[in-house]
Amino acid sequence: MKVSAHAVARMLGTWQEGPGPAHQRLSDRLRLLVLDGRLPLGSAQPSERDLATALSTSRTTVSAAYRTLVDQGYLATRARARATVRLPDDPPPERRSTADHAAIDLSFAAPPAPVEILHTAFATALEQLPRHFERHGYDRYGIAELREAVAGWYRRRSLPTAPDHILITNGAQHALALLARTLLSPRDRVLIDHPTYPHAISTFTEARARLLAVALTPSGWDTAQLQDVARSAQLAYLIPDFHNPTGLCMPTSIRAGLRLACPTVVVDETMTDLALDGASPEPFALHMPTAISIGSVSKSIWGGLRIGWIRAAPSVLERVQHNRHTTDLGTPVVEQLAAAVLLNEHQTQRHGTLQQLRSQRDALQKALTEHLPEVQALRPTGGITLWATFPQPISSRLAAIAPDHGVTIAAGPRFGIGGAFERNIRLPYTLPPGQLAEAIDRLAQARRALTRGATGSHTPAPVA
Ligand SMILES: Cc1ncc(COP(=O)(O)O)c(C=O)c1O
Repeated sequence: MKVSAHAVARMLGTWQEGPGPAHQRLSDRLRLLVLDGRLPLGSAQPSERDLATALSTSRTTVSAAYRTLVDQGYLATRARARATVRLPDDPPPERRSTADHAAIDLSFAAPPAPVEILHTAFATALEQLPRHFERHGYDRYGIAELREAVAGWYRRRSLPTAPDHILITNGAQHALALLARTLLSPRDRVLIDHPTYPHAISTFTEARARLLAVALTPSGWDTAQLQDVARSAQLAYLIPDFHNPTGLCMPTSIRAGLRLACPTVVVDETMTDLALDGASPEPFALHMPTAISIGSVSKSIWGGLRIGWIRAAPSVLERVQHNRHTTDLGTPVVEQLAAAVLLNEHQTQRHGTLQQLRSQRDALQKALTEHLPEVQALRPTGGITLWATFPQPISSRLAAIAPDHGVTIAAGPRFGIGGAFERNIRLPYTLPPGQLAEAIDRLAQARRALTRGATGSHTPAPVA
């Protein structure tokens, strides 16, 4: 596979900004594109001359950057052929993290399981399981008990919903992938919030859709811009409730007034039950009845359950289930029974867990003020993540060296397209306060090392 110079230039975005020589900034950014999977293994890179032209830089700069990547093992060269992407066989010993054994993981935004509550739910689920033994156990819509429990969750929030409006999936990500496969054709345009949930970007890119990014402002969603862009989109994907990564929540006034002209609107309500400073937001479909909603218990209970759902008209669900068999033939029955118990007992909004998230959010903000005072971050009113902004475009380089200081983070460009968000990192507050304070202290050490000119070569951690 050949990657064009213009495609590489688009992915690099604003690589010119930042300290150090240009060739070093370029090789650092190209390496991160390889490690992020945006430059696929084995892909043939543009010639030095083409890339230099596309980047409006000198051929010497590109040539030096390519040479560094060859030396580090990220590019392979052969005479009269384009350089191809590879990975080093082993990180050089001097680059191996001294703190790996105790690294604090801030790249994953997911809370730990509520142990006792899960135990009790699974004990009840096992008691109920035998009534399913007479049937084959494959169910592309999900078991009746859970479809009814999810419908009840919407009804409690004033949105009339019947079980046949619900299709159970293996998490919200699965729901999104099924919808993309069912509703999109190659080259369709998809409106996304910018920044947005990284796996949504890869899901739509894999469906060969073209992304139309609508910037979120510090105060949230721009109605006029959304409505304008939606006119040329086939599908809009929005995260209105405690948005990942910014934590923003779409105000009722915007929900009520939003008119999107695209044929399909998908809203991801994975974080709905994690309101920290007030009531949970109203279901989006209350204002836009044709919207397709995605939900999950991954953040409100536990990601390991792998239970999510789609709420849509039965005719849409019929098409989705028809498409399902090529990837999976249903969701495990015990987990569905346990999730039904948890939803029926209203365990997705536990007072203790919300209280814990509030104190972790406070601890994270306090640590940022103390150790990284130059960082700005809006206080999220719910969800589990905070979107931090540095004065300088250092995010990718910081993510690359942070593991050397015992912490892993998700760099801002993972949450956008075209190399955007180089000044941002996403920080989850799902760890205990002491660990969060320690993690931010380590991040501040990494930040200082960056100023002294340190570089890193760590593989970015997966994000969720
Ligand atoms: C907005 C959003 N949607 C979907 C998912 C995936 O959820 P699940 O674990 O239920 O697949 C996540 C996980 O981080 C998320 O933040």
